Amino acid sequence: MVKPIASAAAFAAVLSTAALASEVRAPEDVLQELIDNHESAYLTQSEQNIMMMPDNAALWTADEGKELFLEKRGPNNVSLETCDLGKGPGVVDGAYVELPRFFEDTGRVMDLESRLIYCMTTIQGFAPDDPAVKSRHGTDSDMMKLQTYIASRSSGLPWNPPLDHPLEQAMRDAGEALFYRRAGTSDFSCATCHTNTGNRIRASVLPNINAPHEWTKAISWPAYRVGHQQVRSSNHRVRGCYWQMRQPQSIPGSDAAIALMSYWTDAARGQPAILPDMKR
Ligand code: HEC
Repeated sequence: MVKPIASAAAFAAVLSTAALASEVRAPEDVLQELIDNHESAYLTQSEQNIMMMPDNAALWTADEGKELFLEKRGPNNVSLETCDLGKGPGVVDGAYVELPRFFEDTGRVMDLESRLIYCMTTIQGFAPDDPAVKSRHGTDSDMMKLQTYIASRSSGLPWNPPLDHPLEQAMRDAGEALFYRRAGTSDFSCATCHTNTGNRIRASVLPNINAPHEWTKAISWPAYRVGHQQVRSSNHRVRGCYWQMRQPQSIPGSDAAIALMSYWTDAARGQPAILPDMKR
């Protein structure tokens, strides 16, 4: 069912842009607004996904993640409510659109996944090889549940990764170099496939990093991948694209993986996040 677009609603949306900028919104509404405001074959490529978004299975994953976040767990039997995701202990709303960022306590720029691992090991006392920490793929992993919950509390907010700290700027710049660096047997770089509008590989329309209204959907992970019947993370996407380029795998939590995400998040700056999203 296609929602009618009332012009009064569109008018109201323009008037209340400032208010909306701080409000968490349903991912399907965020995507629809982008589609209404931009001509993009990438954004509109799956009518079926758009129709299914209000029933996105990842919404259940986010609910389960909220329960896990608040549950007393691990050897220390405490919740994650003192975990600082960058906006202060326990602040989840709006935290994800401001990652990766520099953390004083570790002296590192961290993405959501590495920060969560840090909190689960230091606050809750989990060992790094405990399945709660180590298992990172698929809907049933604690890590995907927690990431999906935290990310969903940034839906509709503009991507705004901080670049004030020199290391934040350095990581963003390193990510840009990685994005354009050609290597491997096919001499591919990320830019080969992601710097044009409307390019396709078979049925898939590829997002263009230079079109921020497209790129926001591209980096909106965690997302439910219909083809995998699983919720997947940003790190899983990076891994998939390195595999497509026939280059060595990136290691989640490594400076290289985080640098790439620092660059790709900066490229979507100001555009609203669609979380959780639904992908092919
Ligand atoms: C050979 C072409 C190719 C290269 C090179 C490539 N990608 Fe991709 N990328 C794709 C395709 C195809 C998809 C969509 C896959 C799908 O629809 O299942 C995709 C999807 C993505 C997405 C998610 C888009 C969405 O719709 O959710 C991101 C983000 C992304 N790539 C980033 C990168 C990065 C970063 C690199 C370099 C490390 C890279 N890609 C290299 C082809 C490529």
